Amino acid sequence: MANLLVTGGAGFIGANFVHYWREQHPGDQIVVLDSLTYAGNRANLAGVNAVELVEADIRDEDTATTLLRDRAIDTLVHFAAESHVDRSIHGPDAFIDTNILGTHSLLKAARTVWLSGDGKPHRFHHVSTDEVYGSLGPDDAAFSETTPYSPNSPYSASKAASDHLVRAYHHTYGLQVTTSNCSNNYGPYQFPEKLIPLFLINALHGRALPIYGDGMNVRDWLHVEDHCRGIEAVLQRGRVGETYCIGGGEELANLTVIDTLCAAVDAAFAGDPGLAQRYPDAPAARGLPTDSLKTWVKDRPGHDRRYAIDETKARDELGYRPARDFKAGFAATLAWYIANEPWWRSILDGSYRDWVEANYAGRG
Ligand code: NAD
Ligand code: DAU
Repeated sequence: MANLLVTGGAGFIGANFVHYWREQHPGDQIVVLDSLTYAGNRANLAGVNAVELVEADIRDEDTATTLLRDRAIDTLVHFAAESHVDRSIHGPDAFIDTNILGTHSLLKAARTVWLSGDGKPHRFHHVSTDEVYGSLGPDDAAFSETTPYSPNSPYSASKAASDHLVRAYHHTYGLQVTTSNCSNNYGPYQFPEKLIPLFLINALHGRALPIYGDGMNVRDWLHVEDHCRGIEAVLQRGRVGETYCIGGGEELANLTVIDTLCAAVDAAFAGDPGLAQRYPDAPAARGLPTDSLKTWVKDRPGHDRRYAIDETKARDELGYRPARDFKAGFAATLAWYIANEPWWRSILDGSYRDWVEANYAGRG
């Protein structure tokens, strides 16, 4: 039995991880530490048994120290972060504060509690991103654990800094850490500022699908549950001090993802006449193709061209393999968003609309 502290457990991947872990490990204690920023949502944890949500900031070292000590935590899984590249371009400070200082505050708390006296068995798992490796050309080899760091956005630079701090706390103090660097996730509970949920919800409302640049940027897509399985594999079989790249093995140009999404929405409306009544503004409600909403807009500044993951190490050492391909994962995700309208509807409030206006104004 393990006692887990999951930071950022009310966000997209963290909440999926809590759902997954509770199902796989019903006897474990799970405490979530989350400050419930715009991206955090109590509702993401609804229906999960025996999970305690502590609403606090990861930069609050005293709270983290108290939790680690009083709840006898032995495993910290660190998801909490500012995670959206576009927001980091508009306002980098929050990214420096949470991703760098927040991670450092957790490391200090872990060192205080776990490395004092005789030391206690423990694990600090840091959830990071493939974006720390920069951008690939079309013929470059995929990112692996030995690819030099080359972050390009304030977001990825802040994640890179946090990765280095985690590594340093292992090397210098002997903290038992692991890190995973993962590709683009999609699935339930993803905040509708990221490509897939944003475009799905826009398609249902007949709103433009704003494609940055030429739409040929490439990402490796992974269903969030496979990411959770990858983290579980690292926690169970990963070597302390090591880094593991986790990916989906599905490199897709944005336009391919968008065309898949448009075709899937068309097919869903064709198969369920009730959708036209629920979403009368969708082109599909009038028999028009969803891809008529595609709109090319000004590119993201510094937009990384291509990410790809070589997951040989995770496969060979941990037996990690994604269970879903993009087609199956995407179909399940579309079905989830259609079935869970109250969840996303409650997010489309004033502050969300302000963000959309700020990000897309002036893009043409
Ligand atoms: P998210 O933005 O959906 O959720 C982040 C969560 O962290 C939210 O619940 C938020 O309230 C919480 N949080 C933010 N600042 C906090 C603070 N100062 N103190 C406490 N809680 C705070 O992010 P996500 O997409 O779920 O990403 C989770 C982690 O996975 C991040 O570290 C991200 O860098 C990494 N990651 C994400 C992806 C992806 O595709 N989304 C891919 C690879 C790695
Ligand atoms: O690679 C892992 C990273 O994936 C994570 O570390 C980040 O937390 C996560 O947000 C994600 O970053 P991206 O920038 O790749 O994801 P996003 O969904 O914002 O964009 C995906 C691609 O779609 C990217 O090439 C930009 C493009 N895009 C995005 C939006 C929001 C558009 O063309 N239009 C849009 O409106």
